[in-house]
Amino acid sequence: MRRAIYPGSFDPVTNGHLDIIERGCKLFDEIIIAILVNPNKHPMFTIEERREMLEEVLSGAAHGGCRLLVEDFQGLLVQYAVEREADAIVRGIRAISDYEYELQMALMNRRLEPRIETVFMMPAEAYSYVSSRLVKEVFQLGAAIEGLVPASVEARMREKLK
Ligand code: PNS
Repeated sequence: MRRAIYPGSFDPVTNGHLDIIERGCKLFDEIIIAILVNPNKHPMFTIEERREMLEEVLSGAAHGGCRLLVEDFQGLLVQYAVEREADAIVRGIRAISDYEYELQMALMNRRLEPRIETVFMMPAEAYSYVSSRLVKEVFQLGAAIEGLVPASVEARMREKLK
């Protein structure tokens, strides 16, 4: 039984995240999608809202035999990964610009906890420029974001803007 943690802010979940989860399901029997509780950030959505959105979109999709759980965590990621008895951390890499930051985190995490491997996965090209930050920015400025986030997420974003 192989368990991975897929950590992130998920503020909100995008189709790029869902693409990575789908790919991760080919490698792991269980993926815990772990939302970071970060008091220093000013998110658009609360942890509870982010969790609801993830659960909503994941419950509608088939993931083979892969079990998906949505949780939140605080503190060190590797500590949480050990507590949850995970084998690996999954991270998506879109472009070279992501690589430097991700490499640093992966190596620091390895130093802190050599038992946990980081697995990088590439999303479909169609999502290579999609990030929660940019989706929020263009949406707030009136642009269409159809196809970049699930329809239910777009609806919640519209509610937030009201
Ligand atoms: O979606 P994000 O915001 O790029 O995710 C970043 C995340 C959650 C993976 C990273 O900030 C993290 O792991 N935070 C937990 C605190 C921690 O362990 N920091 C040391 C990382 S080397």
